[in-house]
Parts: sequence; C-alpha cells; structure tokens
Amino acid sequence: MSTTTPTTSPGPEPTATGRAERPRVFAITSGKGGVGKTMLAANLAAALARRGERVLVIDADLGLANLDVVLNLQPRHTLHDVFTGRGTLEQALLTAPGDFQVLLAGSGLIEYSRLTPTVREQFARLIDTVRPHYDRVLIDTGAGISDVVLYAISMADETLVIATPEPTALADAYATVKVLGLQQGRASMMLVVNQTHRHGEGRHVAAQLQSVIDRFVTLPAGGSIRLSPLGEIVSDTAVRQAVQRRQLVTLAYPGSDAAQGIAAIAMRLATLHPPAGRQPMPPGMQMTLVAPPTPAPAAPDVPPGEATETPSPGPDAAGAAVPGETTAGSTS
Ligand SMILES: Nc1ncnc2c1ncn2[C@@H]1O[C@H](COP(=O)(O)OP(=O)(O)OP(=O)(O)O)[C@@H](O)[C@H]1O
Ligand SMILES: [Mg+2]
Repeated sequence: MSTTTPTTSPGPEPTATGRAERPRVFAITSGKGGVGKTMLAANLAAALARRGERVLVIDADLGLANLDVVLNLQPRHTLHDVFTGRGTLEQALLTAPGDFQVLLAGSGLIEYSRLTPTVREQFARLIDTVRPHYDRVLIDTGAGISDVVLYAISMADETLVIATPEPTALADAYATVKVLGLQQGRASMMLVVNQTHRHGEGRHVAAQLQSVIDRFVTLPAGGSIRLSPLGEIVSDTAVRQAVQRRQLVTLAYPGSDAAQGIAAIAMRLATLHPPAGRQPMPPGMQMTLVAPPTPAPAAPDVPPGEATETPSPGPDAAGAAVPGETTAGSTS
C-alpha cells in the first residue's frame, strides 16, 4: 500500500477541541514478558488491514525491539533515526507483509529505554503526528510497569492487555491492570488471553481476573475496572512455525486455530471500537518529528553513570499526553 493513499473512510465528528471521538490509538501491553504482545500486534494489524483499515504499528518496546524480526524487515531507517534527526518519518514508515504500516524501533533505541524528558516529548510528538492519518494505531509496548511502558500506554486512547492462563502471567496482568487503573484512571481495558490449551479457557481466565479486580481494586474516583474480553488465541504450533519462517501466522497459516482466533479478535475490536477514519497523508509526508536536532551532543539528558531517578509517572506525569488531552489535527 502506498504511503499516500487517501481514504474515504467516514471519519467521526471531531469534538470541540478537534479531537476525534472514536479511540484511535491502542496500546498492546502485558504484565509478564513473552506472552505474545508483538505476535498479536502484528497479526491483529494484518487482520484489521484485511478488513479495510489503515493501520500503523509502532514498536515501542524501546530497547528490546523485535517487531522487525517477526516481520522479517530490515529497515534502513528506524524510530531511532527519526528521534535523532537522522531520518524522516516518511523514511521510517514501512509497509509490512499484511498491508499495514510499521515504525520499527531499531536496536539503537537502547538509550530510549529510560524515560527522559526527550523521550517523552519525542514520543508524544510522534503519536500526535501520525494519529490523524490512520484508522488505528497499535503501540506494541514492553512488558511490565516500568515508567517507559506506562508512559507509552498513557499515549493510547485504549489499552489491550494480554495474559496467558499461567498463574504468573495472570498475577502480572492483574498488577498491570491495577496500576493503569490507579495511575491513569482507566476504568476499562480490553483483554486477550493467549496460549490457551482448550477453547473456552480464555473466558474462564477473564472471569477469574475480573473477579479479583472487583474484589481488590477501587478506582480513585470510585468504581471498579471493567475488562472487555476480546477473545482467546490457543497455543498453536502454527504460531511458532510462522515465527521460525519469519512470517505472520495470519498470512502463512490463515486456517490455523491461532489465525482464526486473531481474526475473531479483530472483528470484536472493530465492533467495540469501529475504525476512527483518517485524513490523507500529506503529500510527500513531510511530517517533521524532530525539532531541529538539538545540538547538545556532549550533554545527554542524563550524564553517563549518574543514576537519575525518573519520577514514576503519576496521574499527571504524562503531562499533555494524558489520554484525552492530546490534540489531533483538525479534520476540517
Ligand atoms: N498462541 C501462541 N501459540 C504458540 N506460541 C505462541 C503463541 N503466542 C506467542 N507464542 C510464542 O511466544 C513467543 C513470544 O511472543 P511475542 O514475542 O509476541 O511476546 P511478547 O509479549 O511480545 O514478548 P516481549 O515481552 O519480550 O516483548 C513467540 O515467538 C511465539 O513463539
Ligand atoms: Mg514484544
């Protein structure tokens, strides 16, 4: 798909602030690592693209990025280049097999694995810049509740948490949901249960998690957190085979149980949150992300060796990036 494909998708009415009403940016996250975030982000994007959506996946697992491996892409320019002014956003946006777009982090982003003011600002600007041009933006985050992960999630309108039936993954999913509820005031989150061993196990796991949340979590504003189960993906050798072949399971084995589970999840997501509509890409996609590269090479945000404690993001730590406050470009 061309990066300049205009669209005719009916966009939602903008609010008074110019922000589209429909959620557009979705964080895909998990408490425990290795539960299938990247697998789901990439395959869900392909499944949504097949439904006609224009989708962007952003590899926000800064430092431990592996979306490039899953998609078998060797980007010439990555987010790292965009953040450092060595490449443009247009150069870094790649079309992946499955007909969606990706912004790959690149291994050089290790320095972005700490939440410095620069990382905050660049990430916020990135999201603001790309969001109007896609029906849906999926942010593939790292695992856990580090400040970088929480900040990446704070950029999103909605959160999709992945858990597996394993007790450790469930406990970690509970911790993530609780922190997102208490720190970001999120009263609802979507849930996908991956690597189930029998059909229906996902429903059971979701009910279990919901009941623990209901018992132990009360939001600052009162009330509890509602999980919206989107579905389950069985543990399927087709997923591992696809990873080995560096292909998406939805493309390589579309008839597999896992691919069908992902297609059903895409359908439920699109029903719960219909595509947001998008504006055409500006000609040439001259979307400048970095302000003129700040010429302070010898003075990084944090002096080497000095373990600066970045304050944990409280409810307002994301500043202008608190969900609901980022401004999308006017659609008029
Ligand atoms: N439904 C499934 N069936 C079988 N294997 C799976 C399934 N989902 C994921 N896997 C396996 O788990 C591995 C890890 O998945 P993935 O890289 O998507 O996890 P992740 O949550 O993104 O990890 P990280 O926290 O390191 O970013 C995959 O390479 C794949 O082999
Ligand atoms: Mg991952």
